Amino acid sequence: MSNSRRRFLHYAIGSSLGTVALGWLADFSSQAQALDLDQFCLRYPYNSRCVSYLPGTVAVDPAGNAYSVSTLLAQHTAGDRVIAEGLEKPAFIVITDGPVIAPYGLSAVCTHLGCIVDWNGEAFVCPCHGSRYDALGQVTRGPAPKALALITVATNDDRVGLLDQPPAEDPRELEREVGGAHPTCV
Ligand code: FES
Repeated sequence: MSNSRRRFLHYAIGSSLGTVALGWLADFSSQAQALDLDQFCLRYPYNSRCVSYLPGTVAVDPAGNAYSVSTLLAQHTAGDRVIAEGLEKPAFIVITDGPVIAPYGLSAVCTHLGCIVDWNGEAFVCPCHGSRYDALGQVTRGPAPKALALITVATNDDRVGLLDQPPAEDPRELEREVGGAHPTCV
């Protein structure tokens, strides 16, 4: 191989690797910025950077259509739990007094062996081995070993976002603090 061809190949390979690395870095950086903006806008939703930003992934119905705040509140009443996709596994959006969409939701994944629980209007029921959870996802009948995981639900304008992380305030703690029914749950 001639020297000029060898130099050309070195240049071509080096430049391709550089492009891939730059692309990866740009992708990583935009993901990191998105993550930061998620946390920032959850904490400071009225900041100018967050005016049109929806934290998390868009919540969609089982048919894949994006939920809107207005539709959810028109079709549901306080106390309802609405199944939503968007995260790796399904979760429930919680409608509370107002009605409004609660800033928390519940994973639909049973903590026994991972089946998807159903909401029957009063409790979450696992179709696999019969575990039951109350409206806040706390176990009322085993074999589930622990409560359904809490997630964060964000809204912006008419959009609904889901984040696979605990909410800023734990509704179960609030329930324990008031010593009975959760103030925003019926
Ligand atoms: S997987 Fe839910 S009770 Fe077993």
